[in-house]
Amino acid sequence: MTTSPDPIAYVDLARQNAGLIDDLMGRIRRVLEHGQSILGPEVAELETALARVLGVAHVIGVNSGTDALVLALASHGIGPGDEVVTPSHTFLATASAVCAVGATPVFADVDPRTMVVSAETLEAVLSPRTRAVIPVHLNGFPCDMPAIMALARRRDLVVLEDTAQALGAKRDGRMAGTFGTGCFSLHPLKVLGACGDAGFIATDDDARADDLRQRRNIGLRNRDEAALVSTNSRLDTLQAAILLGKLPYLETWIARRNDHARHYREALAGLATMPPEEASVRAIYTPFVLRIEEGRDGLRKRLADAGIDTRVHYPIPVHRQAPYRRFATGPLPATERLVETILSLPCSPELSEDQRDRVIERLQAELE
Ligand SMILES: Cc1ncc(COP(=O)(O)O)c(C=O)c1O
Repeated sequence: MTTSPDPIAYVDLARQNAGLIDDLMGRIRRVLEHGQSILGPEVAELETALARVLGVAHVIGVNSGTDALVLALASHGIGPGDEVVTPSHTFLATASAVCAVGATPVFADVDPRTMVVSAETLEAVLSPRTRAVIPVHLNGFPCDMPAIMALARRRDLVVLEDTAQALGAKRDGRMAGTFGTGCFSLHPLKVLGACGDAGFIATDDDARADDLRQRRNIGLRNRDEAALVSTNSRLDTLQAAILLGKLPYLETWIARRNDHARHYREALAGLATMPPEEASVRAIYTPFVLRIEEGRDGLRKRLADAGIDTRVHYPIPVHRQAPYRRFATGPLPATERLVETILSLPCSPELSEDQRDRVIERLQAELE
């Protein structure tokens, strides 16, 4: 067994922070100096900047991507008795948000090529009780939103886009998360990450934006009067200040991820199944997911022995997680197969070219 002297981390946030630390400390200091730590000026500034990046009328900062989904569902009036279709091949939060508003998650399979839901896989599980669908732009690959929006119009469905992993992904030049009500995470491991939990909702609808601003602030419509019953899910001013310091790097970081992805793709072509590529799509590879048709777990162990950290996103599909088994209905063959074969490679902007080449060499030696 050879052990690498210099382990390759899957992510290295300390390295990202190190390059920004003076600027970020200055921004934190300014929040401490002005003292407006709840819904301070940085929150509105970040919302305006993100709305410009996405090309939407409104961004509403909240305290996590999970809450973005919960508040958006509540704002659309989804609740007990309603079915909401989501993939099972996603992070737990998509389905947990549906349960949080008292609705019933119904699991759709994914397209085995793209690893995300399509209009067809969603339509296959619609029922007269379906009120909403939540396509998830998993791995930073944008779902075919024009087709999904057309389905939603035909069947009168609300569309929430779980864009937690896909800020900056595009389809036909349009940003993921701007077709339906866009729900985003700014978790530290996302392409744009806070130093703690954060998230936001994007919408072009003025009335929806007003409603969501009340919902994130205990239902208050002004300092003293409640418009509705809700929770506290405000985006922290300190997190907004940090995110404002990082936002200018978003395109650079996406370009770096895409560069790593291009090298992986070229070097490993024919050795493993690659993530999908479509001319009209800009994916952002959060993460870069290979498919190893045989022996994924053994390979992963040997890579770990060589100091290369990989992940599986996600090893247990939601419909097989204990609290969600009662919602499982039809078979999900593509989902079941993917969880056996997927492998996420290091692809962060902080990964050096040298480290990436070591990952490639090791994989070539293993797979050839
Ligand atoms: C697909 C997906 N949905 C929802 C979430 C929830 O976001 P958060 O961790 O900010 O609550 C995440 C990320 O963690 C995610 O990857």
